[in-house]
Amino acid sequence: MANNTTIKLIEQAKKVLELNNRGSFTVPSGKLYPHQWLWDSCFIAIGMANYNAPRAKLEVLSLLRGQWQNGMIPHLIFSPNVDYEFGPTFWKSRKFKASPESADTSAITQPPLVSIAALAVADKLSAPEGRVFLKQVYSKILAYHRWIYAERDADGCGLAILVHPWESGVDNSPAWMELMKRTPDPRWIGIFLRLKLHKLINRFRKDTSSIPPHQRVNAIESYKLLYRALRFRRRGYVSKTHIAQSKHLLEDLVFNSIFVAANRALLDIATIIGETLPSDLDYRMRQTEFTLEELWDKETKQYYPRFHGNHELLKIPSIATFLPLFSGSIKQERADELAKLLSDRAKYFTDYPVPTVPLDSPYFDQHHYWQGPAWVNINWMIVRGLITYGHTELARKLRDSTLAMVGASSMNEYFSPLTGAGYGIDNFSWTAALAIDLANIKFE
Ligand code: GLC
Repeated sequence: MANNTTIKLIEQAKKVLELNNRGSFTVPSGKLYPHQWLWDSCFIAIGMANYNAPRAKLEVLSLLRGQWQNGMIPHLIFSPNVDYEFGPTFWKSRKFKASPESADTSAITQPPLVSIAALAVADKLSAPEGRVFLKQVYSKILAYHRWIYAERDADGCGLAILVHPWESGVDNSPAWMELMKRTPDPRWIGIFLRLKLHKLINRFRKDTSSIPPHQRVNAIESYKLLYRALRFRRRGYVSKTHIAQSKHLLEDLVFNSIFVAANRALLDIATIIGETLPSDLDYRMRQTEFTLEELWDKETKQYYPRFHGNHELLKIPSIATFLPLFSGSIKQERADELAKLLSDRAKYFTDYPVPTVPLDSPYFDQHHYWQGPAWVNINWMIVRGLITYGHTELARKLRDSTLAMVGASSMNEYFSPLTGAGYGIDNFSWTAALAIDLANIKFE
């Protein structure tokens, strides 16, 4: 795909990544997200590997500096002395023995793309360098996957239970908002509402000072997110206690689809470096693939997340349904159904697909964060999944429309699926990085 427009797009994307480069890692946006995020860094490493594999290697390694002794890789590693609303004073990670000594971090995780990123980077290094790098990261990534099974698969069914919407990466997606509605609010949120304090606090919010408020989660939703994190902190960040004491938690579809793909990448890494995965882990990984299939709903022919506990599917349609394509573990007939659904112009195949919820959803709002806009990371995972299942033509169309949308923008965070207009913050790192990776896909 090397025409002039693409060459220009790649050059522009590299500049964005340079702008957000902080030496050994890259921030999602210098203006709005001045720290290191887990899945952002993985997407960044994947894109960067196309033109600077040694630097992409550093991106993955720097992520591992945040790993806790129990194996958890946190969703956020804080840059020192950078002001942030939910920063180190909020998470207080250093009070917890398992946290790393050299960095302040959050105490929750994010979609576990680390093995996928490591493998993509190794693929672009020379074979011996790739092997050395994979040997360097293998035991750490193995410990991370072990942590997910030990701490988050409380009932041993194979699917990870998330303790906070931020862990899904799709913070305010309808499923998570529905779940939050079912959780009683603490009294202070009622008081805030009565005294209209949220209006006052809104004025000091960083995101809404640079981005129109209707594109972000509202103040009340933010408090609820904050409250959930505080509750987890009060329980000493012990996932098992938190899971045992919480009524409403999700086995999230985005996270678990990625988890399957990440398990497969970990197995590939082990094979490349001549290691064998521990047999108990191997067994649980197969169980995760098997249980992912339980998230399929025969009637509506879609996948959904489900409640932990009663295992009831939370049947709110969203792009999460397409993520099992990325897992690589579903049957061809399921992939064919998903490709059909994705091609539906009245639901998902808009002029600038893929909207995060279908056009006919009551949640749909082309401006509103994870409830309507198209996101490049989601499109990238869907394109990769479609290729795996032989839906090459659809993958190519989605790749081309994604690049057209990004090329006409300032490399924004998300986009209107109707007009392609860029929303959220500009110069956003994963938009830039994954545009580079998409541009490098060679379709026969
Ligand atoms: C927002 C997104 C999350 C992302 C973070 C940094 O919180 O919802 O997925 O990791 O920003 O870009």
